[in-house]
Amino acid sequence: MQCSLDETGTEHHPGLDVQECLGFGERYGTDTTRVMLWASFHILGLNTVFLITLESNKRAQRAYEKAGFKHAGVLRQSAYMLGKFHDFVVMDVTKKEFFEMYPPGTEVGQP
Ligand SMILES: CC(C)(COP(=O)(O)OP(=O)(O)OC[C@H]1O[C@@H](n2cnc3c(N)ncnc32)[C@H](O)[C@@H]1OP(=O)(O)O)[C@@H](O)C(=O)NCCC(=O)NCCS
Repeated sequence: MQCSLDETGTEHHPGLDVQECLGFGERYGTDTTRVMLWASFHILGLNTVFLITLESNKRAQRAYEKAGFKHAGVLRQSAYMLGKFHDFVVMDVTKKEFFEMYPPGTEVGQP
């Protein structure tokens, strides 16, 4: 997992790849994303977290959605890969939404 904060310390841009070390389809992606969000809101004190992912990456979007992210928009034809332009999907989640799903004191990890 890679994360970057902007220079103001208020925007958080996460990146995730569990495939190399853990394999995919085991819910590690969802679980890791939840833990990352917990740290973003509880430790870093952020108010919102957003990410971009390729429109074609349905597995990632589903994992992020299960962790609490919502579809926020599309950056049309903004990704250039293998000689073609592709859409990026923007997803975000606010602290308020996350705390409604996982009230402080509850666990966010996979049961
Ligand atoms: C994306 C990634 C982090 C997801 O992690 P994961 O452990 O595979 O994801 P999870 O098992 O938690 O959840 C995947 C969900 O997507 C669903 N899914 C899988 N393929 C799908 C597809 N083609 N369309 C729709 N949903 C799909 C799974 O069924 C599962 O949902 P469910 O639990 O409701 O059945 C992981 O696959 C990965 O590291 N991929 C390579 C790098 C990458 O793409 N990173 C994201 C960059 S933005």
